[in-house]
Amino acid sequence: MRPSRTNIFAFTAIFLVAISTQSFPALHEKRQLPSDLEVSGALAGLPPESTRYISREELLSMPQVNFTVTDDENFAGPTKIRGVMLEELLRRLGDSSASDMVVAICDDGYRANFSHDYLVAHHPALVLEVNRQPPAGWPKAAEDQAADMGPYMISQPKFTPSFKILSHVDEAQIPWGVVRIEFREEKIVFGAIAPRGAHARDREVQDGFHIAEQNCFRCHNAGSEGGRKSELPWESLSLLAAASPGDFASYIRAPLAKNSSAQMPGNPQYDDATLAALTAYFRTFSKPAVKP
Ligand code: HEC
Repeated sequence: MRPSRTNIFAFTAIFLVAISTQSFPALHEKRQLPSDLEVSGALAGLPPESTRYISREELLSMPQVNFTVTDDENFAGPTKIRGVMLEELLRRLGDSSASDMVVAICDDGYRANFSHDYLVAHHPALVLEVNRQPPAGWPKAAEDQAADMGPYMISQPKFTPSFKILSHVDEAQIPWGVVRIEFREEKIVFGAIAPRGAHARDREVQDGFHIAEQNCFRCHNAGSEGGRKSELPWESLSLLAAASPGDFASYIRAPLAKNSSAQMPGNPQYDDATLAALTAYFRTFSKPAVKP
């Protein structure tokens, strides 16, 4: 039997509704629950920098990935993860003409920057369930046994480093306590910390830049970009790198040796060339820019 014209219309309408809800899950203007995820940056169909909220339930209704992770330092042993790939979130919620990366912001000001290359190489996921449990049943943070790792965290199936710069090896980005996701453009986010001055294109300075992008930028800020876990912005780090390069380098390698209450993690694996590259890079933000 041939479907009638009205049936075709009805069918088309249902089909279109299905497509639109599939590509744009409901975003709310106001927070409904403490567990809602805040999303911002370039959101599809909304003015730049709008902030919206999406619930855990809505995230659970998006296409899910399931994997068992064995190399995530946040977990003591093999752990079953269910969640939504960040690439999926970016594709469905981000404005594709104005976002190519995902920034995950934590309740303590820490930010993990998921560049396009990182997303493609490692396929990180926003974690919704750990061993089939919602956040209340998640293990506590390894660094701080009292701390909840929810409301969201990020993990990925087996992590294989995809680059090495001097002695900085591509590091798994596994933030917990994630409260906000931003869809952003790399040229703006990383552009905020692009080296300055006559030596900006030097190899050593560029190496320092790309190391700082993945490491330091998670906790130290440059204006409105970068992490806020530390109160020391880029300019202060630059002044220190220019005035006392020795102290600067030794703090990066072993903060606890200089400051018994340091919260900054050490980088004992960084050799002298790596510390020299970071110093040369940070010095480009001090005027006058001088070559070390
Ligand atoms: C996980 C967060 C975190 C990361 C990543 C991080 N820092 Fe820090 N940093 C801090 C905090 C917090 C402080 C304040 C002192 C403390 O608690 O260690 C600090 C302090 C410092 C200081 C000491 C300044 C002073 O007053 O003597 C320097 C230098 C520094 N950071 C440089 C860097 C550089 C360079 C990188 C990247 C290679 C980096 N930090 C990565 C959190 C971080």
